[in-house]
Amino acid sequence: MSLLLGLLVAAIVLFVAFGPILRRGAPKIVLDGSAFRDKSGRLDFRNPHLVDLEALERLYADPELQASNHWDTATVDSMLNTLHNKRSFEAWARTALVGVRRKDDAVVGIATLGVENTRDRKGLSIGLQMLPEHRGEGLATELLAAMITSTRAMTDGPIWIGTSITNHAITHMMSSLGYVPEPSASPYRAPNGTLVESYWYRVGVDAPPPVFNNG
Ligand SMILES: CC(C)(COP(=O)(O)OP(=O)(O)OC[C@H]1O[C@@H](n2cnc3c(N)ncnc32)[C@H](O)[C@@H]1OP(=O)(O)O)[C@@H](O)C(=O)NCCC(=O)NCCS
Repeated sequence: MSLLLGLLVAAIVLFVAFGPILRRGAPKIVLDGSAFRDKSGRLDFRNPHLVDLEALERLYADPELQASNHWDTATVDSMLNTLHNKRSFEAWARTALVGVRRKDDAVVGIATLGVENTRDRKGLSIGLQMLPEHRGEGLATELLAAMITSTRAMTDGPIWIGTSITNHAITHMMSSLGYVPEPSASPYRAPNGTLVESYWYRVGVDAPPPVFNNG
């Protein structure tokens, strides 16, 4: 009896001590695109479905996307493995939003959540990727505004957006949404090992809301 009790206490102690470590790595919040409704915009927002697989595979195979995110082959393979395993796809899909063009239901891009756990940055981070044929139409700005608003609706913790300082599309977009980078960002180590000079923007409830302007 006392052995059983001892085992039970040990299990509780282990769970309390290591639970947070085991759980780290996957955001625990569930996004819902309906948190953002803007009928004057061109997009609707929802979690990715399995029917989006072809578009997502094409997106992650894009060499320009891989280069701008400094992804290596292992990162691309791991992304594709996530997409191809039904359980991991479903878990990942709860923390991502696709932008769907209202006029023809085309998936134009995706915004995803990751976990930031470095010395100077804790919390969630947002990634944004548009399908090549839908870039340069201002749709990324709509998707990003929706993602910021939807994530803020689910957490009052810190939310970040990081980008290489040479990614002019994102830096321009962030300033038109009313954000300025944090003054002291250390370089970011990309999945391919490169140290990237980066800007980090604070976009959680501790920052101003996005200024959404369809003009
Ligand atoms: C970066 C990315 C998301 C931008 O998407 P997009 O749909 O082309 O962006 P938008 O059309 O909404 O343009 C946003 C602004 O950036 C500007 N812009 C777009 N591409 C640009 C470029 N290559 N250089 C400079 N400015 C650019 C646009 O003119 C627009 O400014 P405006 O509103 O004043 O006209 C898209 O190119 C992409 O998915 N790239 C690959 C992945 C990536 O780099 N992700 C970012 C990692 S956080």
